[in-house]
Amino acid sequence: MTLSITSDNKASPQVLDDDLFAPSPRHPESRLEAEWLFLYNKLPPDQWFGADYAYKTSGWLKVHTNIRKRQRILTQISEGYQSGEYDWAKYRSQMLKRINMHILKLHQHHGVEDDGFFPEFVSMYPKLAPAFEILGHDHGYLNGLLDKLQIQNDQLARSEVEDKALAEQLHQTLVDATDLLSQHLTDEEDLVIPILGLRQG
Ligand SMILES: [Fe+2]
Ligand SMILES: [Fe+2]
Repeated sequence: MTLSITSDNKASPQVLDDDLFAPSPRHPESRLEAEWLFLYNKLPPDQWFGADYAYKTSGWLKVHTNIRKRQRILTQISEGYQSGEYDWAKYRSQMLKRINMHILKLHQHHGVEDDGFFPEFVSMYPKLAPAFEILGHDHGYLNGLLDKLQIQNDQLARSEVEDKALAEQLHQTLVDATDLLSQHLTDEEDLVIPILGLRQG
């Protein structure tokens, strides 16, 4: 901890407080290093929806909210089938179109980030390049999971006869995607939302 010394040679209580309450990433497994959080520290999450920032930050956050919501609904339907709440016909009718839509929307969102926003942010803040590399790799892993999910969903579309093993495999893919997405989306928000909120225009 760095103490600043005031004119009467005492550590400033304000500086002590600032160190004690320095913002930290929103989840303990964050992969963001302290040196990448200089913008996050200027615009911490409790200000993201403030009047000066919401018009710049809420669009991105809303897209992520919708991704989390679609992912949660799919997992709930899958759990509903696993627990016997839904029969095969109901499970299939609920899953098929939703999964196709979810995959499509995620690919669109990743495409816009990989081809547009991320390179733009790196050119604005070159020292954040390694952080955006992590997020870009996440997209690669997610694409692999989405390919798997698509194959399983296509198989589900052809399976009019109940196939419990397929439903179990599909459930596992959803669980893996939830784990990766929850880490990815939160790390991405901690990095990107302050950039959006603090940029001019
Ligand atoms: Fe992303
Ligand atoms: Fe995103």
